[in-house]
Amino acid sequence: MTTPSPSPFRLDGRIALVTGSSQGIGNAIARGLAEAGAIVVFNGRDAKKVAAAAAELRGAGFKVHEAPFDVTKPDDVTAAVERIEREAGPISILVNNAGSNKRMPLDQVPDEVWREVLSLNLDSVFYVSKRVAKGMLARKSGAIINICSVMSELGRPTVGPYTASKGGLKMLTKAMAIDWSRHGVRVNGIGPGYFKTELNAPLVADPNFSSWLLNRTPMGRWGETKELAGAAVFLASEAASFVTGHILYVDGGVTGSL
Ligand code: GCO
Repeated sequence: MTTPSPSPFRLDGRIALVTGSSQGIGNAIARGLAEAGAIVVFNGRDAKKVAAAAAELRGAGFKVHEAPFDVTKPDDVTAAVERIEREAGPISILVNNAGSNKRMPLDQVPDEVWREVLSLNLDSVFYVSKRVAKGMLARKSGAIINICSVMSELGRPTVGPYTASKGGLKMLTKAMAIDWSRHGVRVNGIGPGYFKTELNAPLVADPNFSSWLLNRTPMGRWGETKELAGAAVFLASEAASFVTGHILYVDGGVTGSL
């Protein structure tokens, strides 16, 4: 009898840092990676929320770590990445998920709000990735996944800073892939469509927005965050060994349709 070879989709024993994983999309992706065998490092700014999210998975029998830190502060990121690698082990999967949105007409966006959104959604990805890639490049192995958006391709009124940040993130994903893939580090993006998350609570609660969205979406519904886990597991795994510089849209068909 031959032993079946392990599934290329398994992530057993690999250390996965997921930024912004106490809630929403990051939390669902963290769970998906853990179910595929990864040891997840939870992150967020609020240590209590990080501890609660970690406790939930620990309670379900998974091995997890906690790393509360602010991804927008370069020195904090340096210290946190060093500590994670010392205490948990080398990070082999990085999911840059932390992000936010401020909705208002573009001509009314205060300069500080522009900076805040760009700092969290785009600058932080550079700060965290550069520091994590250091080890990955030395080991010649690693997978980085950036959480982009359908707004990496499409705009909509009142979310200018967010749209600009996600467009930039798509191109940063390609830049990282181009510089690092040759050295064993694959970099891809996931572009979520509209999901029922805390960030989108005001949109979910707005019947006009919801009916516009459901008409606009070929699948005719909002996404559930657990529907993003498969894309993250795939991109992190050996099953995607020749996939790099790609953005995988998980959007119920929105980017395919006018
Ligand atoms: C908005 C939303 C967006 C979406 C998402 C689409 O106001 O349009 O908050 O940010 O949630 O990013 O991909």
